[in-house]
Amino acid sequence: MIPGTDVSGVVEAVAADVEGISVGDDVFGLLRFPSFDGRAYAGNVAAPASDLARKPAGIDRVHAAGAPMSLLTAWQFLIELGHDHPSPFQAARHRPMALGTDTTVLVNGAAGGVGHFARS
Ligand SMILES: NC(=O)c1ccc[n+]([C@@H]2O[C@H](COP(=O)([O-])OP(=O)(O)OC[C@H]3O[C@@H](n4cnc5c(N)ncnc54)[C@H](OP(=O)(O)O)[C@@H]3O)[C@@H](O)[C@H]2O)c1
Repeated sequence: MIPGTDVSGVVEAVAADVEGISVGDDVFGLLRFPSFDGRAYAGNVAAPASDLARKPAGIDRVHAAGAPMSLLTAWQFLIELGHDHPSPFQAARHRPMALGTDTTVLVNGAAGGVGHFARS
């Protein structure tokens, strides 16, 4: 088993049926989510083309590699109203609620990976 979901790097090869991504492109992505079978803790990875996007020029590869899962988590909970399915890590269920202009959100651990995205 190879853990890890987030990657950033340069495309070395593409399959014949891939469109929109070429050898040499600087990309980043979240692989095979939500299977947690991203196999991203490696120097070279095989990635579904649909899981990759071009890395913005204004962010370096190290920061791009740290963004996808944390950013998705912050996005899901604040923009897409979170999950309401049971978590294997806690007994209490998430209870999504709509956010309005008069809603105050407490971001606990705001300096962390998820928190700093939730805060911005
Ligand atoms: N990263 C993901 O993709 C992801 C995805 C799904 C769920 N989650 C969950 O989201 C949570 C945060 O993940 P993360 O990746 O953002 O972790 P992280 O980068 O390690 O950040 C954790 C934050 O929590 C703070 N903290 C730790 N113990 C605390 C305490 N006792 N009281 C108050 N603040 C405390 C830390 O403060 P210091 O910096 O001062 O230590 C840090 O700012 C975790 O529960 C994680 O399982 C994360």
